[in-house]
Amino acid sequence: MSPFQTVRGMRDFLPKEANMMRYIESKARKIAGLYGYKEIITPVVESYKLLAAKAGEEVRLRMYTFKDLGGRMVALRPEFTPSIARLVATTLKNEPKPFRLFCVGSLYRYDEPQQGRYREFWQSNFELMGTQKPEADAEILMLTGDLMKSVGLKNVFFKVGHVGVLRRIMASEGIDEKMQNSVMQLMDKKQYQDALEVIGKAKASQKCLNTFKRLIKLKSGNFSEVLKKIRGHVKDYEEALNAVENLEEILTLFLDSGCKIGINLEASFARGLEYYTGMVFEAYIPEMDIALGGGGRYDKLIELFGGESTPAVGVAHGLDRIMLAMQKQKVGLELKAEKKVMIIPTKKELKNVALKISHILRKEGITAEVEVMGRKVSKALEDADRRGMDYAVIVGERELKENAVVVRDLKKREQSTIKMENIVNSIRNELI
Ligand code: HAM
Repeated sequence: MSPFQTVRGMRDFLPKEANMMRYIESKARKIAGLYGYKEIITPVVESYKLLAAKAGEEVRLRMYTFKDLGGRMVALRPEFTPSIARLVATTLKNEPKPFRLFCVGSLYRYDEPQQGRYREFWQSNFELMGTQKPEADAEILMLTGDLMKSVGLKNVFFKVGHVGVLRRIMASEGIDEKMQNSVMQLMDKKQYQDALEVIGKAKASQKCLNTFKRLIKLKSGNFSEVLKKIRGHVKDYEEALNAVENLEEILTLFLDSGCKIGINLEASFARGLEYYTGMVFEAYIPEMDIALGGGGRYDKLIELFGGESTPAVGVAHGLDRIMLAMQKQKVGLELKAEKKVMIIPTKKELKNVALKISHILRKEGITAEVEVMGRKVSKALEDADRRGMDYAVIVGERELKENAVVVRDLKKREQSTIKMENIVNSIRNELI
């Protein structure tokens, strides 16, 4: 590997992409503010044990794990949820509930690099902790819909399921949690035949196998019809029926909220992470078959980390994938057009005046760059044009004697001599 290339799976963001990434991040931060989620910043490096506890095989095997110089087994975070659960189980344990917490940053997974799948990627993450109520699950769906809309994405839809339905059927058949996890991993990868074999080997009843087969066969679609069918299939499993009811309540609350996002209900939908206990979902657009975000309810994780029983629900949005989706749907950024000014001294003795003017403009909130290549005025103007500047301030000896400079409107290709004290006003009010 050449030392002058990025490491496989890692990417540089050039100014245009970096700008887009920060734009999406700013939209996520805005949503966090609107919904009352407080931002926290957690470390990139965490104890391997914490991150591995409930990550599930898929994520666990892909962690960047190493021993630090003190001999501690650590890993680069593959997700935020364990760090936040750790905080709530320890430092925040006496704070009043609910917790609405937000974070944003980079995560690391040794995934096979391909479009929309990187080894370093970004998420905005929202967790609502301390309540089991379905309105909390509905809120997580709502804020995800709002984020997708606020970046300008169209035709977003959610794939939704409830791991409680599948897990509770298995539990009532005496299948232990470890075995349940294997089944859920296989279901997540759509390896249904293998999943059925594991259930068979776990000595589940034929009724259980048939129920799973029916749930797998069930096509996703209109949520009330699919719910009715699921209910029919699991009618003999009381606990699973409660899960279906919970899902119906969440989806009804969500749809009644006025968020217009399509729902595809999938009875056999499972997600790779092991900590989920209830509703799970992922966000998609029709143009891409990879999820733009995913989340769900996990009621046992905080307890597992030594905290008191704290039911929770959350979501992480893949910012890299949202960026890709925006590019696919050709969504432009709605940025306020800021005026940009290039200040060009006509000779090197006037550098100090150029710097002084730039300082005055910036204090007034106007973006100002000083010509630093020692170019002649004509070349400097060409360069300013090429780089999309709006104005050039040309600092010349003759005008300076009158305490003035030449201000050129690079778009209109017009210029005037302007007194020093009027530069800001003439640029701001386009008076050239
Ligand atoms: P996740 O489904 O593993 O969930 O990741 C969430 C999102 O992160 C995915 O939908 C995807 O957009 C993005 N993502 C994941 N891996 C990659 C990758 N290799 N390259 C680019 N983007 C990727 C979680 O991380 C859970 N912690 C979500 C959660 C929060 N559940 C409850 N609270």
